[in-house]
Amino acid sequence: MKLILLGAPGAGKGTQADILCKELDIPTISTGNILRAAIKNGTPTGMKAKAYMDAGKLVPDDVIIGIITERVAEEDCANGYILDGVPRTIAQAEAMEKAGIVFDAVVSIEISDETIMERMSGRRVCESCGASYHLVAVPPKQEGICDKCGGKLVQRKDDAPETVKARLEVYHKETEPLKAFYAQRGLLKSVENQPSVAETSQAILHALGR
Ligand code: AP5
Repeated sequence: MKLILLGAPGAGKGTQADILCKELDIPTISTGNILRAAIKNGTPTGMKAKAYMDAGKLVPDDVIIGIITERVAEEDCANGYILDGVPRTIAQAEAMEKAGIVFDAVVSIEISDETIMERMSGRRVCESCGASYHLVAVPPKQEGICDKCGGKLVQRKDDAPETVKARLEVYHKETEPLKAFYAQRGLLKSVENQPSVAETSQAILHALGR
């Protein structure tokens, strides 16, 4: 199963990818997580990406295409993978097609901008492993501490309300046209965000015929 998770910033792509990768036994590839790790490690890619990410803008397509073509060629991707947060532009989608990277399904998680603005203020992420929580919807067992690795939970810099607004604008302009792109190829499955994480996972698995 080669799957793309599409959706606005904060739609729940990372949360669902985490659940689906266990359910489907395939790895998740999150360009956001890869870029944040590159920033943390001070690599040339990270240094190039940081200013774009802090401002809520997209990192240039050539950086992303390089990351993805290398990653999907790794051994653990032989039986499939879930792409979280990529492609994000028509140019990225076309470059993947050109590189022979094809998909079985593209799931778009639908959610209103208002819900996202509310939600992002409650998101906390682990500064060590990147795991994502929500103060109300997905609280950690111990306040401020990651359940998975014991790392410290922090607010993402790009979750400031003004930056979230900028990211939503970029999403509507650059990423949303991908829905029509993949609908034309017969791959698009739209799933409404549900009140809980578990119900959203069920809706996605149902859309995938599982
Ligand atoms: P990235 O890290 O990909 O961020 P994003 O797409 O903006 O998505 P988020 O990680 O913010 O949200 P999500 O949809 O994963 O939601 P989550 O599951 O956390 O990218 C960051 C930046 O990197 C970009 O702005 C860009 O600069 C750069 N970048 C990355 N990829 C790129 C690319 N391909 N091209 C160019 N630039 C790129 O959920 C959000 C919150 O809601 C959490 O707190 C969660 O616990 C909670 N939640 C989830 N589901 C539910 C539910 N059903 N009910 C209640 N709460 C829920």
